[in-house]
Amino acid sequence: MSKSGCQEPAATQAASRTGGGGSPTQRAPIPSVGNRVTVVLGAQWGDEGKGKVVDLLAQDADMVCRCQGGNNAGHTVVVDSVEYDFHLLPSGIINPKVTAFIGNGVVIHLPGLFDEAEMNERKGNGLKGWEKRLIISDRAHIVFDFHQAVDDIQEQQRQDQAGKNLGTTKKGIGPVYSAKAARSGLRICDLLADFTKFSERYKVLAQQYKSTYPTLKIDKEGELVKLKDYVERIKPMVRDGVHYMYEALHGPTKKILVEGANAALLDIDFGTYPFVTSSNCTVGGVCTGLGMPPQNVGDVFGVVKVYTTRVGIGAFPSEQCNEIGELLQTRGKEMGVTTGRKRRCGWLDLVLIKYAHMINGFTALALTKLDILDVFSEIKVGVAYKVDNQTIPYFPANQEVLQRVEVQYETLPGWKSDTSAARSFKELPENAQKYVRFIEEHVGVPVKWIGVGKSRESMIQLF
Ligand code: GDP
Ligand code: IMO
Ligand code: MG
Repeated sequence: MSKSGCQEPAATQAASRTGGGGSPTQRAPIPSVGNRVTVVLGAQWGDEGKGKVVDLLAQDADMVCRCQGGNNAGHTVVVDSVEYDFHLLPSGIINPKVTAFIGNGVVIHLPGLFDEAEMNERKGNGLKGWEKRLIISDRAHIVFDFHQAVDDIQEQQRQDQAGKNLGTTKKGIGPVYSAKAARSGLRICDLLADFTKFSERYKVLAQQYKSTYPTLKIDKEGELVKLKDYVERIKPMVRDGVHYMYEALHGPTKKILVEGANAALLDIDFGTYPFVTSSNCTVGGVCTGLGMPPQNVGDVFGVVKVYTTRVGIGAFPSEQCNEIGELLQTRGKEMGVTTGRKRRCGWLDLVLIKYAHMINGFTALALTKLDILDVFSEIKVGVAYKVDNQTIPYFPANQEVLQRVEVQYETLPGWKSDTSAARSFKELPENAQKYVRFIEEHVGVPVKWIGVGKSRESMIQLF
C-alpha cells in the first residue's frame, strides 16, 4: 500500500469510535482569534504612496508581509534623505527590528529579488541584515525569465492583433499567475525539494511555452544554473508559510502589518478588467495570500492620493489631458518606479474611492501628496458619474460604459500656499482642511494621515 494509502490507520479508527478519547460531553473550547493584522491597501490605480505609509507604520511593527503581486509593484520610501525602491521586498524591511514575510500569494523572480535587496543595501543602512530578516513561503510561485519574455511577446501580439496592448510591466505577472491557475507552475517548495525533478518540470513548462510561442528564446541550462545557485541562499529563509503565519498570529502579541501591492482598480476581479494586474489586490487577497483567517484582519487603511494617476492603458474618467494633468504630472513627479513610464494624471475621483471602500471596508484613510495641490486656485473633485444623462449609483464593470462616463465635479477653492512644512492639521491652510473634510464626509471614512512631502516626517497624523 502507498504511504498515503486509503485504509484508515488503526489509531484514527479507534479515536473516531470513542469520540477522540475525551468525554463525549466535552467540547473543544472556541479557539482564540489571535493577533489582529493591520492592512495597507491602494484605493486607486496604484502608486498612492503605500510604501511611505507602510514605512511609517513599520516603526512600530514586528513583521511586515507581502501577500500578492510580484515585482510589478514599485514602492519608493525616503528615509534620512535616502530614496529606497522596493518591488518585491516589503518596504517595512527598512526597520531593522522588522521581519519581512513574502506570502504564498506573491510570485517571486529570484534574481529580481536579490538584485533589489542588494541595490537598496548599497544605498543606505536600511537593509542591514536583510538576509536574516526575510522569510519566504514555500508555497509562493516562481517567476522564470521565460515568463517575463512571454509577457513581452503577449503584449506585442495584443498590439499586432487588436491594435492595443495592456501596458503591463513585463515582469511576467500575467504568465506566471496563468501557469498557477493552469496548475503547471513551479513553487519555492519544488525548487528546494529535488533539483533533478524540478529541472524536469521546468523543462516541460519551458517546452509548453516554446510550442505556443515559437519565437520565444529560452536559455534553459543557463537559468537552471542560476536557480541552483539560489537554492542554498534561500534555504534558510524558506518556511511552511501557513505554519509560520499561524505561529505569528498566535504567539506573543506581535504587531503584524500587511503591505498591499498594486491597488483596488487593478484587482483581477474588481479592477478595470481587462486593464488590470493578475492578482487580488483587495482585502480578500490578504487572507488567500498569507494563509490567514479573515477574523485576523484588523484595521484596513486605504491609501488615497489626493488626485488620481494611472500607468498604462485603460479608462480613466477624471483624467485631465490638458495643462492641469501636465501640472499634476510634473509637480507630483509622476513617473513609474518599475517602468519609468509617465503616469497619466487627473482630479480626485471619489466615486472610485467609494467603490474601493465597498470592497475593502476601510477603517481609515491615509491621504498623500496634498502638497502637490498647493498651486491650484481651484480644485475639482469627481463626486458622481452620469451615463446617458442618468446618474449611476455604482462603478461600472464594462469598460466601454466607463469610457463614456461623464464625471460630475464639485469645485473647491484652492489654498495657494506651501503646505510642505505643516506638521499638524491646524497648521494646514483653511481651504486645505476643508478639502480633507470634504473627502472624509463624502467617502464616509475618517482620514488618519495627510502626506505633505516624501519624507517619513511629512505625514500629519490626525488621531
Ligand atoms: P506606492 O506604489 O503606492 O508605494 O507609491 P509609489 O512609491 O510608486 O509612488 C508614490 C510617490 O510619491 C513616491 O515617489 C513617494 O516618495 C511620493 N510621496 C508619497 N507621499 C507623498 C506626499 O505626501 N507628498 C509628496 N510630495 N510625495 C509623496
Ligand atoms: P504599485 O504597488 C501602478 C499596472 C501596469 C499595467 C497593469 C498590468 O507600485 O502601486 P502587470 O505587469 O501587473 O501585468 O500590469 O497594471 N500596474 C501598476 N500600476 N502601480 C502598480 O503597483 C502597478 N502594478 C501593476 O502598469 O497597466
Ligand atoms: Mg508604485
